[in-house]
Amino acid sequence: MSFLAIAHRGASGRAPENTHAAFAAALALGAGAIELDCQLSADGELVVIHDETLDRTTDGRGPVGDRTWQELARLDAGSWFAAAYAGERIPRLAEVIEQVRRRALLNVEIKSARDLGRIEAKLIALVLDMDATREVVFSSFHWEALRRLRAAAPWARLGVLCDDDPRRGGLGLAVELRGEAVIPGRRWIDGHVVAEAHARGLGVWVWTVNEPGEMRRLLALGVDAIFSDWPERLVDLARFSAP
Ligand code: G3P
Ligand code: MG
Repeated sequence: MSFLAIAHRGASGRAPENTHAAFAAALALGAGAIELDCQLSADGELVVIHDETLDRTTDGRGPVGDRTWQELARLDAGSWFAAAYAGERIPRLAEVIEQVRRRALLNVEIKSARDLGRIEAKLIALVLDMDATREVVFSSFHWEALRRLRAAAPWARLGVLCDDDPRRGGLGLAVELRGEAVIPGRRWIDGHVVAEAHARGLGVWVWTVNEPGEMRRLLALGVDAIFSDWPERLVDLARFSAP
């Protein structure tokens, strides 16, 4: 069985999400890809954090996009998860590309609506500057961001995140934008969706699955990648089902 095991926000089941610790754990566990969420700081740095506010995963308060990089860099992004991770920081995207490149694929999700229209050009510039155009797949629920990326970067690898049935637009957009995958939630996956995506030359990547039984169901349907907070469970499935 061949599929891509994607560590969702890094190995976020065992380390604080979207930190270097979570990415290092994902690499050590054998994930084939790492997903992260990217936003802009007030002064235009590409930073890695999921929520639009700092409150849940750092010791800061308020909107991420209201703080400069210098302010964000001081925050503790690990203690909320466990005392052993005190001192983990909000990473910059460039640092994570450096950490992950040549070891796993990186899936960069454009997260915040407030960044749209500004973040796309910065992502393109960074990936070009780091010569990482083949090592990063961009995704977003904000489809206008994917349209902008494609218009500006014919080389960009794109996945279309879908928050409903991909047959209601996601599949068509992925074909139109020459994306490589649709990325629906697991509830939308059945044999028909997988067959239709594959017939159009698209992969099916599914978020976010932590139960091995559900992983097996999806893999039996032929999905190409699964996002999990526990990528080691996916790696185990691949190992134990190898011929
Ligand atoms: O990209 C898959 C998944 O990360 C989308 O949802 O909220 O975890 O970013 P979320
Ligand atoms: Mg995400």
